[in-house]
Amino acid sequence: MLHSMKAFGITAIVVLGLGLIAGVITWAVLATGDRGPPAPTPPDLIDLDWWQHCVLYQIYPRSFKDSDGDGIGDLKGITEHLEHFVAAGVDAVWMSPIFESPMVDFGYDISNFYEIHYEYGTMEDFENLLEKAHQLGLKVLLDFVPNHASNESEYFIKSEAREPGYEDFFVWADALPDPDNDTNRLPPSNWISQFAGSAWEWSTKRQQYYLHQFAIEQPDFNFRNPDVQKEMINIMNFWLDKGADGFRVDALPYLMEADPADHGGGYPDDPLSGRAEFQPGQLGYNVPLYTKDLLELYDRVHEWRGFVDSYLQANGGDTRVIFSEGYANISMTMLYYGNEDGDIGAHFPFNFDFISDLSNTSTARDFGYTILKWLTYMPHGAVPNWQTGNHDNNRAPSRFRVNMVDGLTSLNMLLPGVAVTYQGEEIGMRDGFVSWEDTRDVEALRRGDNETYLLYSRDPCRTPYHWDNSTNAGFSTGNETWLPIAEDYVEINLAKQKEDARSHFKVYQALVKLRKEKTLSHGEYSVRALSNRTLFLVRYLRTFDTIVLLFNVSELSDTVVLSRVLHLELPATVVVSSIHSTRVAGDTIEGETLTLAPGEAIVLRAKPVS
Ligand code: GLC
Ligand code: MG
Ligand code: CA
Repeated sequence: MLHSMKAFGITAIVVLGLGLIAGVITWAVLATGDRGPPAPTPPDLIDLDWWQHCVLYQIYPRSFKDSDGDGIGDLKGITEHLEHFVAAGVDAVWMSPIFESPMVDFGYDISNFYEIHYEYGTMEDFENLLEKAHQLGLKVLLDFVPNHASNESEYFIKSEAREPGYEDFFVWADALPDPDNDTNRLPPSNWISQFAGSAWEWSTKRQQYYLHQFAIEQPDFNFRNPDVQKEMINIMNFWLDKGADGFRVDALPYLMEADPADHGGGYPDDPLSGRAEFQPGQLGYNVPLYTKDLLELYDRVHEWRGFVDSYLQANGGDTRVIFSEGYANISMTMLYYGNEDGDIGAHFPFNFDFISDLSNTSTARDFGYTILKWLTYMPHGAVPNWQTGNHDNNRAPSRFRVNMVDGLTSLNMLLPGVAVTYQGEEIGMRDGFVSWEDTRDVEALRRGDNETYLLYSRDPCRTPYHWDNSTNAGFSTGNETWLPIAEDYVEINLAKQKEDARSHFKVYQALVKLRKEKTLSHGEYSVRALSNRTLFLVRYLRTFDTIVLLFNVSELSDTVVLSRVLHLELPATVVVSSIHSTRVAGDTIEGETLTLAPGEAIVLRAKPVS
């Protein structure tokens, strides 16, 4: 009896065990049958070139890391911290200008295009940076500033002195007589500089005006002069020979202005905007008809693209890229990709729509519309790109809301194409406060006064990087830093975020990791608002995988109906979530509705679309 009981017991366990295994197999078969055959490997997809789906990080060298205690970031500081980019998952960096400069516009006023600025280091430092970056598998892009030079450059000094070969390097013009006053002179036209006031400056030495679309100390090159065109190629060639992987190309909409030859030998006035809120000399008083977005400028972009392509052909290696910068309307922006005559332009123009079109009052519908705007206007087969900030604009958490940091990073990382990160965004850095006394930005100093400067100042987004909670946020061992450190560095810094269980940096890393999957590099997309508050983005590769982002961009919580999310079949699993979300990676999402807290973002993996 005992024996048979025992035998029964064993048999029962065996039978139960077998049943369980069988059950699991049946479930698995049913489950997979239900989901269609699971693709063991991603479908066959074309290989992408290195830049087409990269994470591109903008370094602002002056504020990244100071290695020598002078309070100013430098190349050695960058080199010593290149591992940060590897840890973050970044593929390529672009650096704001590192060339010799009097620093009126912090490096955008270049006095020698072939030398490294002394505060940043030496040519050897640059070579070391490049070598280590390449060893780590990182691409390095430089900032190419073709529109203007410093008034301290040899080009300008020689041009002002009318030295042969340089007379027409810049845009020079005679004064106009003042009909009201014989002894007075007037500038050639009413053109207004980006940094306020006339775009023309009188040279006593040459007895002529020169054009400067930016600061007085940034005279505009004359791009109708073939010698200037050639010199630009020489400059690019020099840095490509050094090993740079390409360029971010600065301020392109301002490259060319109306040709006097088309206007009876003079410079035509820009029409007046008629907008009462602007005074004469203030940006906005004129409509920049003759000073911005001139079609001829695109010929230069095509030429430069041709040059980097031919450089690749001649020298081999990986693709050298040009990414163009310019704030322009959607049509003029898209033209940087190339035109319908087959002229190829930049690899992409930077997409500033998250900066220019959206703010803390934008609804989910505004977000959807803005995202689809780029994707709708972009030429067939082109590579999109996304960014929420740079060194010229207030930081994203300050422009939007601080609880949107992870949602914005999610959009940036999960949308198709290139994701651009501005230094500090990976840890959710906010604008620093910079007093009028501490203000250094030429735009703030020239456009504003002690009351209005914060409307224009670019200093708040340029305060030094927060490495840790030590003195100067670990940026510098000096007594002073070139701009003050933002006060919130004790709370918001990289070292802390590496330790915290949940942090913006960890969300960033998780998203970059997810991004390397084929669904995100190659998948289809769908973007739509579920309500005024919540946006969804779906990325899917049919029969393989589906990734869904839900992002509440509003100040209120929102309950959404999940069946309205295209291609989302439940249950789904949370892969990444914003740090204040109650959901964490691994959680299962099922049920008809889901309530998202203000700013909450969750990224889900769902059943593949058949
Ligand atoms: C670009 C730069 C900006 C600079 C300007 C003039 O817009 O991003 O920082 O002041 O060009 O070079
Ligand atoms: Mg230094
Ligand atoms: Ca120009």
